[in-house]
Amino acid sequence: MKSQSISLFSVVTAVTALVWGSACTQHKDPAVVYAPDMHYSVALKAQEPGAMRLPPQGAIPREFRPYSITSLEDAGRVLRNPLPRNKEVFAQGKALFEAYCKVCHGPYGEGDGSVVPKYPRPPSLQSDKIRSYKDGEIFHVITMGQNLMPSYADRLDENERWAVIHYVRALQLAKNPTADALKRYESKK
Ligand code: HEC
Repeated sequence: MKSQSISLFSVVTAVTALVWGSACTQHKDPAVVYAPDMHYSVALKAQEPGAMRLPPQGAIPREFRPYSITSLEDAGRVLRNPLPRNKEVFAQGKALFEAYCKVCHGPYGEGDGSVVPKYPRPPSLQSDKIRSYKDGEIFHVITMGQNLMPSYADRLDENERWAVIHYVRALQLAKNPTADALKRYESKK
């Protein structure tokens, strides 16, 4: 009886040692593999090829609206300013223009911002060219940037860009009031 229990103990010990040894071995191809699912894990290690996966083609971050227009002309033709011209929108446009555009373009958009002449003088937003631009064309410049001017798409969302454009129109009107606008102003006096 006694010798039997000792031999049982030694068998259990031997089996335990075998299992332990095989599970923890560092060899690539051990003789006995305990729990092969864990030993040959399908999980990828960090930095292993295939572990750092690229997003699927065409995936976009949440909230991101792709801008697919590639030319000024198309932007002018296709896009419309969706915002009303009211006090709130002008106030928002003014605040954004002063935060993002004034340093280069100046308070009235005449190209006399505080970084000029250290930074090359931008063209005036009071020019006939920009006065006859459609809102969509100005939107395109702000969204895509143009030569030295960087894109502001990552700082101004779409509505903020449209609000800035209403404000640029207000600046243009302030410097070049139309007869119509003057008449409206005078009739209020
Ligand atoms: C870092 C300076 C800088 C800032 C800030 C800047 N711009 Fe410009 N902008 C320029 C320069 C320089 C050009 C001329 C680019 C070129 O040579 O085509 C330009 C061009 C433009 C044009 C086209 C003018 C033309 O005659 O072709 C528009 C419209 C315009 N900017 C609007 C804006 C608005 C609106 C903002 C604010 C959201 C802004 N810019 C912010 C430097 C700036």
